[in-house]
Order: sequence, then C-alpha cells, then structure tokens
Amino acid sequence: MRTHFCGLIDEALIGQTVTLCGWADVARDLGGLCFIDLRDHEGIVQVVAEPAGNVPGNAEVLSAAAQVGYEDCLRVTGVVRRRESVNAKIRTGQVEVVATKIELLNKAEPLPFHAHENPGEDIRLKYRYLDLRTPDMQRKMRTRTKLVAALRRYLDERGFQDIETPILTKATPEGARDFLVPARMHPGEFYALPQSPQLFKQILMMAGFDRYYQIARCFRDEALRADRQLEFTQLDMEFAWVTERDVQDTVEDMIRFVFREVMDVELDAQFPRMTWAEAMRRYGSDKPDLRIALELADVAELVKDSEFAVFTAAANDPDGRVAALRIPGGASLSRKQIDEYAAHAARYGAKGLAYAKIDEAGAVNSPIAKFFSEDAFAALLSHVGAGNGDMVFFGAGGYNKVSDFMGAVRLKAGKDFNLIADHWAPLWVTDFPMFEWDDEEKRYVALHHPFTAPAVDSIGDLRANAKTAVSRGYDMVLNGNEIGGGSIRIHNSQMQSAVFELLGIGAEEAEAKFGFLLDALKFGAPPHGGIAFGIDRIAALMAGTESIRDVIAFPKTTTAQCLMTGAPSPVPDAQLAEVHVQIRPKA
Ligand code: AMO
Ligand code: AMP
Repeated sequence: MRTHFCGLIDEALIGQTVTLCGWADVARDLGGLCFIDLRDHEGIVQVVAEPAGNVPGNAEVLSAAAQVGYEDCLRVTGVVRRRESVNAKIRTGQVEVVATKIELLNKAEPLPFHAHENPGEDIRLKYRYLDLRTPDMQRKMRTRTKLVAALRRYLDERGFQDIETPILTKATPEGARDFLVPARMHPGEFYALPQSPQLFKQILMMAGFDRYYQIARCFRDEALRADRQLEFTQLDMEFAWVTERDVQDTVEDMIRFVFREVMDVELDAQFPRMTWAEAMRRYGSDKPDLRIALELADVAELVKDSEFAVFTAAANDPDGRVAALRIPGGASLSRKQIDEYAAHAARYGAKGLAYAKIDEAGAVNSPIAKFFSEDAFAALLSHVGAGNGDMVFFGAGGYNKVSDFMGAVRLKAGKDFNLIADHWAPLWVTDFPMFEWDDEEKRYVALHHPFTAPAVDSIGDLRANAKTAVSRGYDMVLNGNEIGGGSIRIHNSQMQSAVFELLGIGAEEAEAKFGFLLDALKFGAPPHGGIAFGIDRIAALMAGTESIRDVIAFPKTTTAQCLMTGAPSPVPDAQLAEVHVQIRPKA
C-alpha cells in the first residue's frame, strides 16, 4: 500500500515520488491551498495540495484535500520537496510532500475527544485505540518494546532458558488475594491464576535447568495504585548453584545493559547497597529515593525527658521511634501548607505531625516548644542542624509507622522544595526482616514470601530468634521505586516446613498447599535463588511517566475495570451453571 513511512521522509528523498498511509492529524484549508499533517507510527509529515497549474490532476487532489477531517485514514501519493518554512519541531520539518493523489481510505466520525485537549484518563481508556495513536503513547509503548527486546537479548546471549509456566494453577502466595477460575470438569474446585511463577521456577532449578527466565504475566487481586495493576508483567529469573552476590551481580549488569541500550544512560558501575534497617532509619522507607538528600534524624534521647507524653512514650518504648526531618528553607511553609503535610502524614498512619519553624530572624514557632525547657528545645533543634529559615517536622509512635509517615513527609518535601536531583539513583536493599508481626491476624507473615531462606542455617536458631531474624532477600530500587525483588530460597525440606510452621501454616495445610514443593525439596534440590523485575515499572521510569498504565496497552482503572471492553461483566446463568457456580446475594 505504501512506499515509505510518514515520519521518516527526509531530504534524501527530495524529488522522489512516495506513497504514504496515515491519519490526518491536522488539516488546514487555506482556500485553494490545503495542508494536511499526515501521521503514522513513525511521526508526521506535511502534505500540500496546491492550486491548479503546479501539479497535474490537482483539481481532484484539492477537492479531496478539502474534505479531509481529523483522524481520517488516507493514502497519499506525492513528490517530496524542500519546505519553505522549516518546522524544527518535527523530524521531517525540512521537507513536505506535494500531493498528486489523495485517497480517503476510511472516514473518521467526529472524535469523542481530541488528544490536544488533554482529555481525562477515563475517556482515554474508553477509546484506548485513539489514545494509543497519539505520538506520546506511541513513544511510551515503544520504550517498553525496546526494554523487553534488550532484556531478552541480554539473557538469550548468556544461556538463560525461556520456559513458560502454567496460568491455570494452584495458589502461590505473594501476599495478595488470588484470582480463581472454576474448574468445569471438577465441580466445586478452582484453579488459581499465578501471583508469580515462584514455585514453578524453583522446581525448574530442581529439574536441572540451571538458569531460567520468563516474561511472565502475574495476577494479584489487590488494591490498585499508580504502580500496581491486577495483572502485570515480570521479568522472572531463577539460578541454580548461586549465592545472593552471584544473582545480584548478574542482574545489576543486565539493568546497566538495558539502560545503556534503551536510554543511552550509564548507571553507577556499582549500585550502592543498604540494609533494610539503615534504609528505614535514614529514609523511612524500604525503597528510598536517593535523589533526595534529606535524611531522618533519631531524637528519642533528646526528648525522652520532655513533658510531651506522646514523645516520651515512644522514646522510652523499645519498639518506638521519635524522628525528626529538617527541611532547609522550609520556614516558608504557611499554616495551611503545614496542615497539608500533617494530612499527608495521616494518610500513612500518623496521629499528628509536630513541627518547629525557625524564621529568618531566628524566632521559633512550635506547638511543642512548651513541653521543653528553652535549653532543651534549642539543643534538640541544634542536634538536627536546624537554622534560620528552616522547618523541622517530628513524628513519634511505633518504629515502622513513624518511619513510614516520616518517609512520606520526606518525599513530599523533596517534591515541594524541588530537592530531587536529576540523576538515576539505583540501589540494593538487603537484610530484610524474615517475618513481620501481623497484629490483626496475630501471627507472623513473610516479608518477602515463605520460600525465602533465612540468614541462619539452623532451624533452632530461627525458632529462637524469629522476631529479629534476617532473610536472604533483596530488592532493587530505582529512584524510590521497588523495581525488583528476590532472594536465595530455602532448598531444604525441613527448613521449609519450619518456616511454614512459624508462619502459622500447620503440617496438614502445608501438605495440602505445598506438598509437591516439600517433596521436590527431598530429592537433591540444589541451592538456588532468583529475582523478578516489574517490567511495567521499569518501562514507566524509562518513559518518564508516573503511572504504569501509560506503558500498558490496555490497563485497568483504579476501580479494577477495563473501560474499553467493559470487563468485568455479568455472565448468563447457564454459563455459571456449567462451571457449577452460584452467585451469593451481596452481604
Ligand atoms: P515481588 O512480589 O516483589 O516478588 O514482585 C517482583 C516485582 O514485580 C513488580 N510488581 C508489580 N508491578 C505491577 N503491579 C503489581 N501489582 C506488582 N506487584 C509486584 C515489582 C516487584 O519488585 N516471586 C517473587 C520474586 C522472587 O522472589 O524471585 C515476586 O513476585 O516491581
Ligand atoms: P497537642 O498538644 O496534642 O495539640 O499536640 C502538639 C503537637 O504534637 C501537634 O502539632 C500535633 O500534631 C503533634 N503530635 C501529636 N501526636 C503526634 C505524633 N504521634 N507524632 C508527632 N507529632 C504529634
């Protein structure tokens, strides 16, 4: 149908006849002279329909051009020539195509929205095919394609084997709810969609495959956010006969490779490493954004004798924390803005957010100054390095909660005060706690997943120190996003049973759910470990967008719907009967 792509017409083609296909991005009828911006996946080129005399047969061309509307589908034949008024904004801006023939292949009805008008996301998702046609979305999706291609190239060249694992399977716990699929042939029974290929990839190592990868779709029924979808894509990897350093060094090199290939960016030759405890202490986060130089300071020692019960209680509690965050120049915050910070902290569980504002003349304004002697308060401020023009926020309470909300305050301050440095900041976070106490369920839950090896070798050690035990898990973090997570796995059946037991999974339940794994571990399972990367998240970072929805062709909304197809939707009763399912009335 065509000889060239619109976006690739250049000066080398001047004088040649080309045939192009594309959409009319803009059409301008200047009365006897028409301009059409013709767009395909490569970009835009200007097409001109000129008055009689210049081109043979142009009366028809002109009348065809005059009919063209937005997003009409066209085939244009014409001669490339140098453009009089160069358009530096587009790649083809030096040239234009003088039309000798314009065919209307398909007329577009008036559009429900126009891309130039910045439509809301709901309408973009409903008419996703129109949204995806825009150069911005084409660019983002292409970044994703390049990322996946570069990952595959890297792994294929290094002997990793790409192996598919089942989608209709048994539950793999990754901390979310399962999506269930009724099994028609087994009334009352269900398949689960995989939250990850975790157990299959471990079993592949036991099956002698040595190095595996898969671009794997994962399904998790959890609350959606900008960086979370119900179904998302992992680069899933597993290695036999490795330590954590072997896995980390390989995948770090791979991430450097893809940034070089796709972005022309050279990441750090060695990613910094930080323990989970240090990340929480300094940044209030297990995925610290190291582009922001602000750090939390621990001040329990300086407030434990104050009159403020909230502070003294936390300061004297071994599981408590009193943390301060100094924001240089933060005294410019108004009362209303300070309230916004408190509301932001509250979303992360804060009961309050104390502050001290030091104006340019050195006068201190703080609702908690009254609880301290003048000297003690001055010592507190000086400890965190606060000077004239600064703001200090304080958080007190349980260790993890304070870290969470003060970490969120830190990120907000980083954004609000333009403190985010312009570079890529990758790091490894290591030495995660093995377990986290779940107050609601009154039991330990795994911080990574239940197959992660503890850093101790003996079951006795693990049982005796469950609360403080550290795992052999690791996360890769980039600019404050967790882009990958993995671990060295348990490869010993008894240790695996002991971990299940500590997680409150009894022997019977363990046998029913994971008997196949416990069995497989008994027949010479090699030491193994791996990692999975969030492809959507890496693609979003590379494409420079906040939301992974922008790099997924057909994403779900935050209310878990596909606005284009209307999924999810009711199904006819007959179809439910076939799979032995009956709908319960809403509770
Ligand atoms: P994890 O649960 O940490 O580990 O997932 C690995 C990576 O997948 C991405 N990710 C998501 N991306 C989009 N939407 C989601 N809902 C979502 N959930 C996770 C993140 C995350 O770092 N089986 C283990 C890996 C292993 O141990 O090898 C696992 O799935 O970028
Ligand atoms: P109050 O005397 O209760 O008004 O509290 C004084 C200040 O302490 C207010 O600015 C509160 O926001 C703040 N505050 C209350 N609870 C906490 C907490 N857990 N951590 C930090 N600040 C708090």
